[in-house]
Amino acid sequence: MAGPLSPDFGRPLVDLPPLSLDRTAPRPLAVQLADALRAATADGTLRAGDRLPSTRALATTLGVSRTVTSAAYDQLLAEGWAQGRRGSGTYVVGAPAGPRAVPRAAAALAPRPERTFVDLTAGTPCVAALDRAAWRRAWRAAADPAPDIGPDFVGLDAFRGVVVEHLLRHRGLPADPADVLATGGSTAAIGELARTLPAGARVAVEEPGYQRAVDALRDAGLDVTSVPVDAAGLVVDALPSGLAAVYCTPAHQYPTGSRLSAARRVALVERARAEGFLVLEDDYDGELRYDVAPLPLLAALGPDVVVHFGTASKLLTPTLGAGWLVAPPAVREAVLAARQRGGGRPARAGQRVFAAFGAHGDLARHLRRLRRELAGRRAAVVAAVRGAGRVVEGDAAGAHVVVPLPDAATERAVVASAAARDVRLDGLARHYAGAPAAAGIVLGYAGPTGDELERALAVVAEVLTRP
Ligand SMILES: Cc1ncc(COP(=O)(O)O)c(C=O)c1O
Repeated sequence: MAGPLSPDFGRPLVDLPPLSLDRTAPRPLAVQLADALRAATADGTLRAGDRLPSTRALATTLGVSRTVTSAAYDQLLAEGWAQGRRGSGTYVVGAPAGPRAVPRAAAALAPRPERTFVDLTAGTPCVAALDRAAWRRAWRAAADPAPDIGPDFVGLDAFRGVVVEHLLRHRGLPADPADVLATGGSTAAIGELARTLPAGARVAVEEPGYQRAVDALRDAGLDVTSVPVDAAGLVVDALPSGLAAVYCTPAHQYPTGSRLSAARRVALVERARAEGFLVLEDDYDGELRYDVAPLPLLAALGPDVVVHFGTASKLLTPTLGAGWLVAPPAVREAVLAARQRGGGRPARAGQRVFAAFGAHGDLARHLRRLRRELAGRRAAVVAAVRGAGRVVEGDAAGAHVVVPLPDAATERAVVASAAARDVRLDGLARHYAGAPAAAGIVLGYAGPTGDELERALAVVAEVLTRP
């Protein structure tokens, strides 16, 4: 017999799973019902503490008389499977409390308990630098407005206002809120832009480059062609003719960390105008420069041919699923028309939080803190890598560096030795659409806590010294 009801009992009325009763079977309906309720605890659909519907409500739902439901409940109460509290209903007690059991098929797919790795792959934000009080304030403020009643394909005014201010102050790009569309982040924006181009159109991407962009462009049915990068960024002279668009990361080439030179910026915009292609400028971490002055954005040089997009993912966190794009009117209209046709639109929750975070200076304060934190972390990375007799490539910007290695075998050995010591490293090979032309490690330093990074860098120094 179960003991007295514990104080945490009283979860709201549960939605019962479909209970099928066989009216033609010789077993009484009340017995079938009691069996079905017991069975629901076995698969975790019902848990200890769940409140069952009243006998009257259940009788109505099942289309049986109340005598049937009352008899079933009486049986379960007598067995101690359920307990009744006068005036507040009948509760399950004879089943394990806690999370619902994972159904068997899903259990097979559930991840096995993993070792905990310190993740030094690139692309994660530095949430350790986030002032949690400011973060909570932003979420509280974001919850203030009443829920919206209709879809918004453009983006909230408050969000676009903060983005415009951010672009002007931190990226030197003057834009009007009317030029800005909210997005669900950069990768989502690339997909949307790709779908506005004619199927089969030729698009150039950087090699090595951001493979999610490559996938998004291919998924949209575009013909993706790779163009090399060097220490001055995308090799503009190597762009083939007949392009509909060029996707690039000029502020901080992903993953090599180089910066598109001023001369190549001008050449790219001139070619785009002369040949009628669009430049997709992915400014995923352009705000994060610590020692080097930024060069003018492509969008500032060629607002008529450049689609500029940014994201809150690196600056704050991908939790927000918020980004922005600034584009010539025809491109904006094509994106908007596609959203309206398909019903897709950027979620407003993340925009509200970002807008609240930006409204009273928290975003600018965060950015200052983040730059300081990342500059310190980069210095520690550079010291560890140099201590191992290796060099670091890439600008003092963003949140990753590249450590060149002599060949693919050494790259694989370094990644494997680090993994054996619970540090996840990223080889350069993964960032090539075709055969890798260089080997190395792309080392991200934003994600871990400061302590984790320190421990992981000791491992990195060792595996780079003796792969
Ligand atoms: C080059 C590049 N662009 C965009 C993104 C992701 O942006 P979002 O989270 O907004 O899709 C990343 C993330 O790693 C990236 O490396």
